[in-house]
Amino acid sequence: MQERTIKENKEFESSPKLLVIGGSGLVGGALVSRISENGQLVLAPTHQEFDIAELSIGEIAKKINGTDVVINLAAQTEVDVCEKEKGDFGGMVWKTNVVGVEKLAKACLAGDATLVHISSDYVLSGSEQLCPHKETEKIDPITSWYAKSKAEAEKILLSSRVKAHIVRVQRPFGDDFNIKRRDFLRNVYEANRLGKKFFAIADQKLTPGYVKDYAKAILAIAGSQHYGIWHVATPTVTTIYDAVCLGLKYLEQNHHQIIDWNLIKATTFDEFMSHAGAPRPKDTAFDVSKFERHFGQGILRPLPEMLADWAANIALYEQI
Ligand SMILES: NC(=O)c1ccc[n+]([C@@H]2O[C@H](COP(=O)([O-])OP(=O)(O)OC[C@H]3O[C@@H](n4cnc5c(N)ncnc54)[C@H](OP(=O)(O)O)[C@@H]3O)[C@@H](O)[C@H]2O)c1
Repeated sequence: MQERTIKENKEFESSPKLLVIGGSGLVGGALVSRISENGQLVLAPTHQEFDIAELSIGEIAKKINGTDVVINLAAQTEVDVCEKEKGDFGGMVWKTNVVGVEKLAKACLAGDATLVHISSDYVLSGSEQLCPHKETEKIDPITSWYAKSKAEAEKILLSSRVKAHIVRVQRPFGDDFNIKRRDFLRNVYEANRLGKKFFAIADQKLTPGYVKDYAKAILAIAGSQHYGIWHVATPTVTTIYDAVCLGLKYLEQNHHQIIDWNLIKATTFDEFMSHAGAPRPKDTAFDVSKFERHFGQGILRPLPEMLADWAANIALYEQI
């Protein structure tokens, strides 16, 4: 078994005042749960209570007054839906993913709060030669509106004097099926239950991750003063096809669930893209060595461990 060193897993030495925006989402839900499990206080207003697209800088500054760390997961995240607003700088995607982030940065700067902003692998070109991708790589988003908006927000934060962490995540998967945002494991699981085929890309190099690991990693970063860009994902480079097969295998072998393997079909990235609404980068697997150098190995687990945990939690919920 690989030896692990967890350098900093306390997440915070003291008890800073935390505010999470977008805490009802796929990643945000796991983050708020993690903070609560730690026994820490967190403010997690709803979209309606804290709308970064609609509030003014002054209103945001008032709401974050006294907060030490603001963690922003609020975003328009459906890539194909975002594409319908392409070129619309007054549309909801730009107002949320770019202007909203700029307002948060200004309010955090004024209030001397740290801003932890969640970004995406889609700011990268996805070139196979540079894979797995490091934080030092020049951003070069494929021309989708979602990717452009996420890249623009990063540029704004990097040129601001705010104490900011940009945490790029990719392909999060969770076990809370009450959350609106779907992920690839939930899609394959539900498709299998309904007797429907699921096509999974087998030639695209990615590093997906369990939202529970992402939550721990985001909190470790939030407690650090090494501001900048962080890649957060499993260290295991894989494909969605392999990840899906392993997750389902754990459900079958460890939890006696019935899986119809005939419904799981491998496809190619090019075939998928021929039906997709917006362009997507191909090989965006992350190099997470910067994170591991700062926080040790073990917070971001190898994919088999994440998937075994995911399967155990899915099986548990099935029994309830
Ligand atoms: N999901 C992915 O595959 C993926 C991949 C890479 C990076 N990311 C990034 O990870 C972050 C979190 O993504 P996610 O998948 O957890 O997203 P999600 O499930 O779609 O959640 C987005 C959250 O933001 C809230 N929100 C949307 N617009 C808002 C606004 N104007 N003001 C305040 N809150 C607003 C939503 O509230 P309501 O639901 O109530 O509207 C929800 O709580 C995002 O920055 C995303 O770009 C996601």
